[in-house]
Amino acid sequence: MIVLKEITEDNFHEVIRLKVGEAQAKFVAPNVKSLAECWLYRDNGDVFPYAVYDKEEMVGFLLLDLDEEKREYMIWRMMVDEKFQGRGYGRQIVEHVIERAKGDAGYDSLIADYVMGNEAMKKLLGTLGFEETGFEEDVDEVVMTLDVQN
Ligand SMILES: CC(C)(COP(=O)(O)OP(=O)(O)OC[C@H]1O[C@@H](n2cnc3c(N)ncnc32)[C@H](O)[C@@H]1OP(=O)(O)O)[C@@H](O)C(=O)NCCC(=O)NCCS
Repeated sequence: MIVLKEITEDNFHEVIRLKVGEAQAKFVAPNVKSLAECWLYRDNGDVFPYAVYDKEEMVGFLLLDLDEEKREYMIWRMMVDEKFQGRGYGRQIVEHVIERAKGDAGYDSLIADYVMGNEAMKKLLGTLGFEETGFEEDVDEVVMTLDVQN
């Protein structure tokens, strides 16, 4: 069972040491870049980075981007360290975000996207009910959406 924790001085180094497999590097930015982007957009107050834990072990990273105006939750980035992949953590992360978005009356939809060829993310989102709602040609990314209105 995963738990999301804030990123602090204590766990920051561990977050930036997490890594995906070599062939997956094109699917997600390094966590250090994601954290730099959080700093860049800090005044917007709508980006939320988390370290993902299973008990005391850090297994991954999640970056949420919330758009109040559009009433959209977005999984901007997520990754599970290569050592811990294939154990269901990716699925638990997305399920966690779905529950959270459903419980938040201010939001109607949950968006996630994946780079073409990212079969793991495609399968994960497809089996959790997301539907394809767009394609961003410039970055070769498929946009997937789940209705979370209650
Ligand atoms: C995508 C990612 C987060 C999934 O994490 P994970 O912990 O391995 O995911 P899970 O163990 O929950 O597996 C998810 C599903 O993907 C499937 N899967 C894994 N690798 C696959 C592959 N190469 N092709 C097809 N399906 C695959 C699994 O079988 C599983 O399906 P199931 O639950 O029906 O058995 C992980 O692969 C990752 O960090 N990838 C690199 C970063 C990335 O692509 N992030 C997403 C875009 S920002």
